[in-house]
Amino acid sequence: MIDWNPDLYLKFGKERTLPSKDLISRIGLENPARILDIGCGSGNSTNELKKRWPNAEIIGIDNSSTMIEKAQLLYPEIDFRLMDATEDLSSLGKFDIVFSNAAIQRMTGHEELIKKWYALLNTGGTIAIQLPLADDIKGQQALYELEYVKKYKPYFEGKKLRFNNHKPTFYYDVLSHLSTAKDIQIWTTTYMHVMQGFEGILQWYESTSMKDYLNALPSDEFRENFKNNYLIKLKNVYSLRADGSVLFNYKRLFVVASKSK
Ligand SMILES: C[S@@+](CC[C@H](N)C(=O)[O-])C[C@H]1O[C@@H](n2cnc3c(N)ncnc32)[C@H](O)[C@@H]1O
Repeated sequence: MIDWNPDLYLKFGKERTLPSKDLISRIGLENPARILDIGCGSGNSTNELKKRWPNAEIIGIDNSSTMIEKAQLLYPEIDFRLMDATEDLSSLGKFDIVFSNAAIQRMTGHEELIKKWYALLNTGGTIAIQLPLADDIKGQQALYELEYVKKYKPYFEGKKLRFNNHKPTFYYDVLSHLSTAKDIQIWTTTYMHVMQGFEGILQWYESTSMKDYLNALPSDEFRENFKNNYLIKLKNVYSLRADGSVLFNYKRLFVVASKSK
């Protein structure tokens, strides 16, 4: 089992933290007492929350032990806990902000999850979620296409390898039913990450989506072959700039909704 590799994940720490900052910038609360970061990973999103609201009690939860250990090492002053976000979280109490950056796409049943997470809010609280929109990310689609290659196919059958995401309107509809304040912000941003060649995109995915594919394959030889075929696919959909960089378009959806006072 290939668990998350926090060091490889943090190789792109700047790019991966940017959406957290953008999401935080749209939360209007000045003095939240308690904040929950769901799928906190190695703590970079949680640390941004701490920087914005240094006096708040912040809890970060994640179901990867390697990620939680790294978060505890990097930010010992924050309370990180190994927990599955799809389970009952009511024992954690109520929060003024329920935050989740780039994690819900790893979970299924988004309507139920969002309802459950919204129920953790105090009155006047805010829920804020960001997730990638995989349909519009060519590097993600290139990965999905490799599922159909004959020699890999049997190893991927029955496995849940893809991100889970719905269209933006789905999240609006779920939140507009919930948000008693009727105060919803929803937007998309396509980041253009400047990557060091095609290998840069390969490394980006090796620490996230691709790890589940590599994990399913039977040997290192297969894994190397898979990565080489992925590089070929990337070369078909992206082009090198004159300085050797590749502009990696990455579309993300953001939703922020409030509960009335
Ligand atoms: C791409 S990382 C995002 C980490 C961090 N929020 C950030 O902004 O960099 C996704 C995280 O979601 C976590 N995750 C996935 N499924 C989860 C679940 N069911 N419960 C808790 N965490 C989960 C993964 O372990 C991983 O650390």
